[in-house]
Amino acid sequence: MTTLKITSLAAAILVIAACHSKKKTTADTASAPVKSTTGIFVPGEEELTAIKVKFPDATHEKLSEGHAIYTGVCTKCHGAKSIYRISEDKWQPIIDDMAKKAKITDSQKDALTKFVFSVKATQPK
Ligand code: HEC
Repeated sequence: MTTLKITSLAAAILVIAACHSKKKTTADTASAPVKSTTGIFVPGEEELTAIKVKFPDATHEKLSEGHAIYTGVCTKCHGAKSIYRISEDKWQPIIDDMAKKAKITDSQKDALTKFVFSVKATQPK
């Protein structure tokens, strides 16, 4: 119960911090996501376009669902790890391993996979 409360509190603080860090200056930039240094953000148009090369069936909904899983159930045992820090070829075996640990469904794993690779595909060099 206490752990759950602390987790919820940490999540709330993260959300508040994320909102405060997003400085929306003009209406033009409001729709583009503010990229974090860890690659953990809700993907936008650039990410969707990039991931469609690999997964033509990807949608904004799938990518958002993947983000929610990454920052939700995937943080049960550890914090949300930097997506950028792990190389693209290492990600698939990690997802396979962690999906089992997190006991997510095939559909959730699909969303998570699309989310992670959309972020990797658009990682600033
Ligand atoms: C049941 C606990 C648990 C859950 C749930 C869990 N992890 Fe992990 N994760 C671990 C442990 C333990 C390690 C470190 C040891 C290892 O690599 O197996 C780890 C390590 C990692 C690493 C670092 C791997 C590396 O080689 O640097 C990443 C990235 C990661 N997890 C992502 C995820 C994602 C994504 C999810 C959601 C699908 C997730 N984890 C869910 C326990 C968990």
